[in-house]
Amino acid sequence: MSIRTLDDLLAEGVSGRRVLVRADLNVPLDKQTGAITDDGRIRAVLPTLGALVEAGAKVIVCSHLGRPKGAPDPQFSLGPVAGRLGELLGAPVHFATDTVGESARATVADLADGQVALLENLRFNAGETSKDEAERGAFADQLAAFGDAYVDDAFGAVHRKHASVFDVPARLPHVAGRLVLREVEVLSKLTGAPERPYVVVLGGSKVSDKLAVIEALLPTVDRLLIGGGMCFTFLKAQGLEVGTSLLEKDMVDTCRNLLERADGKIMLPVDVVVADAFAPDAAHDTVRVDGIPSHRLGLDVGPETVAGFSAALSQAKTIFWNGPMGVFEMPAFAAGTRGIAEAITKADAFSVVGGGDSAAAVRALGLDESSFGHISTGGGASLEYLEGKTLPGIAALEN
Ligand code: 3PG
Ligand code: MG
Repeated sequence: MSIRTLDDLLAEGVSGRRVLVRADLNVPLDKQTGAITDDGRIRAVLPTLGALVEAGAKVIVCSHLGRPKGAPDPQFSLGPVAGRLGELLGAPVHFATDTVGESARATVADLADGQVALLENLRFNAGETSKDEAERGAFADQLAAFGDAYVDDAFGAVHRKHASVFDVPARLPHVAGRLVLREVEVLSKLTGAPERPYVVVLGGSKVSDKLAVIEALLPTVDRLLIGGGMCFTFLKAQGLEVGTSLLEKDMVDTCRNLLERADGKIMLPVDVVVADAFAPDAAHDTVRVDGIPSHRLGLDVGPETVAGFSAALSQAKTIFWNGPMGVFEMPAFAAGTRGIAEAITKADAFSVVGGGDSAAAVRALGLDESSFGHISTGGGASLEYLEGKTLPGIAALEN
């Protein structure tokens, strides 16, 4: 891989130079208050930003937040993120109230050496996510005008062929930031020659989101443990009734086919926690998977499943985990996710947690982050990396 790194850029000297950093500051926000509920992605770019500040660069940070539709939308403003980033850096962050407009131009022009600016949400501009090369290119031109060099530290967005990820590096000298390098280094261990047994735990709600990664992983893993909302489509494929649980009907045949080809590598839940409704205070019980009542829905895996999955994890030498086992945000349905997370920390294995949700679950459950080998900031990005897909953001750095 011929990717230049932040250290290469620092060695050239960046004092007084404008360095445009693409970060993934797409943090979860509280639906009611708009407060940042997990600042992990902000903390993850501090090593890169700190090094640039220390070296006296003018640091211009850009990011997306959520999925606004190409126009300003206050609920997706990066304003609160600028505040938090400033607290973590210990210095004010100059916030531009637009991305490439008058405020951005003035903010960048006024920046002193060693200061940090944050531009407003990239996705307030249609050019950022446009499928049209020319439209993306025009927006990339405007962004690139703010920098003398470009650093990609937005690992969570490297799978997006977006202007700030794919087109800007074609216009500026470009390097990979510390976070992107670390993520690629860790994930390449999993795609290379992982120490065995290699056990993967997948959860989350949709089989259709995970299908490609399941296909790609089946030949390489020793065991694939499936929980979360997506397990019900697999259980259905085994001929079981799943009540009103999440079910992707059009994926049942695909799941059956995967199970047939899996050579016994796939482990499914043997018991689940079923509830009357999708609500934190819903009445609930644990039942065997062959006894799910027709009017109830599964919201977590049960204790026997946790025990079985934990036994498989205790043998592992390499573990990758993506996706919660249940609705961990509701305490009544958090035990499965907690149990699996704890089993991973106890295993004598190199463990990687992939994904926004699983990483947030680790922190929300109060688990010690340092007891995992690596917590990826990328959900979709880490899965696409493991699938062996070309990631536009990485490819752009290679050129
Ligand atoms: C993520 O949260 O997975 C990344 O920030 C990418 O966001 P996106 O899925 O909206 O492109
Ligand atoms: Mg995503």
